[in-house]
Amino acid sequence: MPKSSKDVSVWVIRRLPRYYRFLNELLRNGICRISSRELSQKMGLTASQIRQDLNCFGGFGQQGYGYNVELLHNEIGNILGLNKKIPIVLIGAGNLGRALTIHMDFDYRGFNLIGIFDVNPAIIGTEIGGVKVSDMSELEAFCKKEHPQAAILCIPKAAAHDVAENLISWGVKGFWNFSHYDLSFHFPDVITENVHLGDSLMTLCFMINNDTSSDPEPKDE
Ligand code: NAI
Repeated sequence: MPKSSKDVSVWVIRRLPRYYRFLNELLRNGICRISSRELSQKMGLTASQIRQDLNCFGGFGQQGYGYNVELLHNEIGNILGLNKKIPIVLIGAGNLGRALTIHMDFDYRGFNLIGIFDVNPAIIGTEIGGVKVSDMSELEAFCKKEHPQAAILCIPKAAAHDVAENLISWGVKGFWNFSHYDLSFHFPDVITENVHLGDSLMTLCFMINNDTSSDPEPKDE
């Protein structure tokens, strides 16, 4: 019996994008069918881990056949809700904001980047990846008209609280937070994905210093 997505452990959810990315690669290589053993070998997970993960949503595999790659890929996309194209705005069009706009395929990952905002007059009015950079003073009217549900924060820590507070009051429900401000602590009811590239680098430092392999995810079950 499939559980509701809300009951599924966050560690399973965090593995789904990796399955999705991996299955997408198989599809592009013309592979239509894969056994859980092959999938597990290629992904470096155990076959039982994969079965347990996918059973959370009702299975998808068939005894003696394995997985239909396209079906599984599409199902995982549906579970993640990637086809809904959540409207998102990016705040802070500096080095990081520019790099994300240019390199991140938002559409493939379930989002539609509908606006970029900054306070720097030298950037305002320019375009990044086909999206115009607008003045922060226009953000409130933009939110009221376009209803972005999420925001990417690429602004300094000192600016993050006020910007987030305003965005929340204008209807934003979730943040992809690159600022080093602890949004989850100050706005516990808001959905936040904090990204700290530096944490990942320090983890690498530990692993090299201790000659240990990477297995940072708890086996949750
Ligand atoms: P940057 O200085 O190139 O860009 C910051 C941009 O934010 C500038 O264009 C600035 O005009 C704009 N800005 C400042 N206050 C604003 C406000 N109140 N409203 C709207 N826009 C505002 O800096 P960079 O390199 O792009 O980094 C951005 C932030 O992300 C920094 O705070 C940095 O510490 C952080 N960062 C975080 C990383 C992570 O892994 N979480 C990695 C790299 C940077």
